[in-house]
Amino acid sequence: MSFLSASLDRVKPSPTIAVTTKAAELKAAGRDVIGLGAGEPDFDTPDNIKQAAIAAIQAGKTKYTAVDGLPELKRAICDKFARENGLEYQPNQISVGTGGKQTLFNALLATLNPGDEVIIPAPYWVSYPDMVLLAGGEPVAVQCPMEDAYKLTPAALEAAITPRTKWFVFNSPSNPTGAGYSRTELKALTDVLMRHPHVWVLSDDMYEHLVFDDFEFCTPAQVEPGLYERTLTCNGVSKAYAMTGWRIGYAAGPVPLIKAMAKIQSQSTSNPCSISQWAAVEALNGPQDYIRESRAVFQRRRDLVVSMLNAAPGVTCPVPEGAFYVYPDISGCIGKTSAGGAKIADDEAFAAALLEETGVAVVFGAAFGLSPAFRVSYATSDAALTEACSRIQAFCGGLS
Ligand SMILES: Cc1ncc(COP(=O)(O)O)c(C=O)c1O
Repeated sequence: MSFLSASLDRVKPSPTIAVTTKAAELKAAGRDVIGLGAGEPDFDTPDNIKQAAIAAIQAGKTKYTAVDGLPELKRAICDKFARENGLEYQPNQISVGTGGKQTLFNALLATLNPGDEVIIPAPYWVSYPDMVLLAGGEPVAVQCPMEDAYKLTPAALEAAITPRTKWFVFNSPSNPTGAGYSRTELKALTDVLMRHPHVWVLSDDMYEHLVFDDFEFCTPAQVEPGLYERTLTCNGVSKAYAMTGWRIGYAAGPVPLIKAMAKIQSQSTSNPCSISQWAAVEALNGPQDYIRESRAVFQRRRDLVVSMLNAAPGVTCPVPEGAFYVYPDISGCIGKTSAGGAKIADDEAFAAALLEETGVAVVFGAAFGLSPAFRVSYATSDAALTEACSRIQAFCGGLS
């Protein structure tokens, strides 16, 4: 029998990390590589937030805190939900974890039994299915093709629900497509969920603030108050305030679920870093200018990348509502041969040949559960994006 656990066998290593590692190897070997794989803002954490962390260290706020968050941070999170989402939560309905990732994982571990199903619209953030598998559940991916703007339709949601469905995972704006659901589109989904009272909603609002044009962000418990009692609303400071390394995420929901999540955290990591928690208090309570400024930069980059990718032969790139990703379809490239002689049998082969022949690193669509496509993260400089997209155009132009 293997020394390693059977549940580990169900999980695959992260394909996004594999791409980043391969790109780093080529770079170390002296190749000119442009990485479009990273899922984090390229900006520095705002200064007021850094200063709050320094002040916390100097004031000796460097000890254990309450397992699932400082009272001051829970208060700031309640205020954020009331102010930005029209959602009333009490501090005992809030859980703070080491990144959004930990709060999501806690929620799944606290609730899934073998055979429980979790509906995940595809393309999806790579961690959802593997977290479900690690927690003993069954991920149920539902295809959301480009023709539907990469969004789940009410009919597809209805068809995916079974008596075993425990959670529906909702992520808008989405990683990897940037697709954001309007209030009307979301209401159509929540109407379906109202007919199935055994299904809980896990809303991952991590990219809430990265929305463009006049798109209005909304979240399920806000759009359908009837779902409040069975919704876990998840969010964090990583993407909104360029704080990926600080590791603070949070969730709000019914007290028994929040207590169960704290129980898991109390026997695994205990509290998230005390200094990061004080920094997050400042992020949520302090000036919000960074959000507006970074949004303008990302919108400009989105427009640049979408127009350049649409000029690449065989590539179709929809215009996403938010996040810092685009997810171009490459149906027109499959079955061809690259200038370097690589057979482009699928999107994994496309990404491998693109990296090998042009030095541009992107993540292939199969990693996110919908092919043939690839994900570009445009959280990098305009100059790097322009150069990378020119190389993609040349690569696609050379396919025959
Ligand atoms: C959709 C989505 N949810 C959650 C997370 C996790 O964020 P954190 O860095 O706070 O753990 C990410 C990070 O990439 C993400 O893309």
